[in-house]
Amino acid sequence: MLTVGFIGWRGMVGSVLMQRMREEQDFSLIDPVFFTTSQPGGQGPSVGKEVPPLKDARSIAELKAMDVIVSCQGGDYTTEIFPQLRAAGWHGHWIDAASALRMEQDAVIILDPVNQPVIDAALAKGGKNWVGGNCTVSLMLMALHGLFKADLVEWATSMTYQAASGAGAQNMRELLKQMGEAHRVAADLLAQPASAILDIDREVAGILRDERFPTAHFGVPLAGSLIPWIDKDLGNGQSKEEWKGGVETNKILGRSADPLVIDGLCVRIGAMRCHSQALTIKLRQDVPLDDITAMLDAANPWAKVIPNEREITMRELTPAAVTGTLMTPVGRLRKLAMGPHYLSAFTVGDQLLWGAAEPLRRMLRILVA
Ligand code: HSE
Repeated sequence: MLTVGFIGWRGMVGSVLMQRMREEQDFSLIDPVFFTTSQPGGQGPSVGKEVPPLKDARSIAELKAMDVIVSCQGGDYTTEIFPQLRAAGWHGHWIDAASALRMEQDAVIILDPVNQPVIDAALAKGGKNWVGGNCTVSLMLMALHGLFKADLVEWATSMTYQAASGAGAQNMRELLKQMGEAHRVAADLLAQPASAILDIDREVAGILRDERFPTAHFGVPLAGSLIPWIDKDLGNGQSKEEWKGGVETNKILGRSADPLVIDGLCVRIGAMRCHSQALTIKLRQDVPLDDITAMLDAANPWAKVIPNEREITMRELTPAAVTGTLMTPVGRLRKLAMGPHYLSAFTVGDQLLWGAAEPLRRMLRILVA
């Protein structure tokens, strides 16, 4: 059995990974070893079998004993430890949720339902570095897999509606605190059916702009508002999140040398853990909508077409419906007024599952097989 070290298993992505691995009985196939940056010697999580006491996540000697390391500890840890480990002669597989190594030449962005051939080719060449993709990119590719598989996409723009979880656990908490504050200031007026809506609105607008409004993590209000910028400012008008859309999509598809143009705007909204995206896709050919629907539905077990009708779209194509599930539904499929080569689509997916933890545990399964 492979000895697999886990780092960052207590954090948000790590906890979802542990949950999914327990559900799928992954721990029965490996010898798990849990590492910690704070409590060496402590007790590991309950995974249905004996695990040794927690080991020091900064001990290169302990890490070197692993066949595989799975890190959800974040980019700073990867940047500090990974080069030391390789320099010390470690030849194991490194599976990482952080973006630090994503664009390295010898790293593969893992999303096996979409890019198993890219993973297989790298394994055959002795590849050892496997990195989960940006959540928005992975969720878009899972949902629109059928179109990419058929090489029908000439270009695409993605306008995103990204959940608080993408910014971190503290940001999810802050979103709820902000919602609570917005409700608190309006509560008395809200309780009176005869109160004027504009009075309620004035109270809410007032607290959103009040310096006491809780914004330590987002920097600005998200509840009752939105944030049209995600990640760093690249200085050319593009955010880093938007840049990732193009480069990561092409890297995942193994076509960085012949890239598709993918670009758009990334926006944070007040959903908890589901990212949504509205896409405009320029098709290479005028393919009938029924054929497109069939391709998207059949591409993988998680992509599911929601008919472009009001009731079912409102019920099923939303963060509230999708959260906590592995489904990546796609709907609002329509040929746009620009012409028969222009397709609209809307997708939703849980950014902690296919957007973060799921590709990691599946990569582990590929290594174990
Ligand atoms: N960068 C993403 C976001 C999350 O901020 O929503 C991780 O891929």
